[in-house]
Amino acid sequence: MSSVMRRQERNANRAARLIDIDITSTRPGTPGGRFMRQFWLAIHRSEDLPKGHARPIRIMSEDYTLYRGESGRAQVLDYRCPHRGAQLHLGWVEGDALRCLYHGWKFDCSGQCVEMPAEDPNFARKVAARSYPTQEYMGLVFAYFGEGAPPEFPPFPASREASLIHVWNAETVPCNWLQCYENSADEVHVAFVHQPGGSHAAIAELPEIEAEETDWGMLRLGKRQGGKLRLSLHYMPNVTRVVVPPLAGFDGIGGWSEIFFSFTPIDDESHLWLITSQVKVSGAEADAFRAKKAAYLEACARAPKVMDLVHDVWAGRRRLIDIEHPDLAIVQDIAVQAGQGRIADRSNERLGRSDTAIIVWRKILARELRALAEGKPGKSWRVAPADVVPTLGF
Ligand code: FES
Ligand SMILES: [Fe+2]
Repeated sequence: MSSVMRRQERNANRAARLIDIDITSTRPGTPGGRFMRQFWLAIHRSEDLPKGHARPIRIMSEDYTLYRGESGRAQVLDYRCPHRGAQLHLGWVEGDALRCLYHGWKFDCSGQCVEMPAEDPNFARKVAARSYPTQEYMGLVFAYFGEGAPPEFPPFPASREASLIHVWNAETVPCNWLQCYENSADEVHVAFVHQPGGSHAAIAELPEIEAEETDWGMLRLGKRQGGKLRLSLHYMPNVTRVVVPPLAGFDGIGGWSEIFFSFTPIDDESHLWLITSQVKVSGAEADAFRAKKAAYLEACARAPKVMDLVHDVWAGRRRLIDIEHPDLAIVQDIAVQAGQGRIADRSNERLGRSDTAIIVWRKILARELRALAEGKPGKSWRVAPADVVPTLGF
């Protein structure tokens, strides 16, 4: 047996040992659920929440109400009214407050009840819905679901270069969040999954992967021929920041852009993709980009739904390599990653050296979750410094 094969064998064994604690569940009360609730999480695309609208959202197996007040402020409150449990999103927004549809109780952004039309006026001040700290950044609404004061905001830095923010369609992906997070640390998949369509041809050369833990998450290094190095950043707990090729269908406008992927658990078997591109364009070039984006959105509206295509591929009705779609890379990624199962069975995996970043991430998660489960202090995670940036590396 060669030394490489022996090392792969050791990796596989080590990985099997790592999952003696459930690193996939984020249900309330589980170690993973308690861990994830220590961070700000992206929960919604800002542009999909107009003023005066309220929505039901489900995050980490719990339901909430998200609404945007008339001032433009977004706020997360409990899902149900504390009176008799009506869904709060059925009600209507008044200023920055939300009034329950059922009997008209009105709650301000802090969740305090401020009006009960059919009750004694003194009763209202004794009743509150729970509200959750809510902020917006890079085209996304973030919320904090943990105990006590939330950590620093924004939770991660962005490029300071003049740029345009483009937030991709939020997709609901029918599998556990960690599968897709792990894929975001899997640089080798690009050369295979995204070969059809060629959108990732420029990074098809297989890299040698290294990864190291930092005080904000993990730094991933993809080494290519001639010592060229691609750096990608993994911010704790669920954000990946990478440099990617010019967007498909945008004729190279904006060149290589930065993408921030947030993988937010809806429950243990589904999650949200909230993807933001920071495209380095300004002035006339930004106008050209907006025109391309409008054409892209029109093409998406005409195209089949991503998940319909994925189901066709899973059922063998179509071949993935025959599909044409304005979001082809997303179809390809979801077909493979959600195709691993609603919660991938990691017990029989055989991990190799190209899985190094995934192994490092699992070790970190398992260590932190074990500490929580045993009542020991976990690591104090910091917001990454702005000068640590992802690089193209070739
Ligand atoms: S249930 Fe909301 S006001 Fe009665
Ligand atoms: Fe991919």
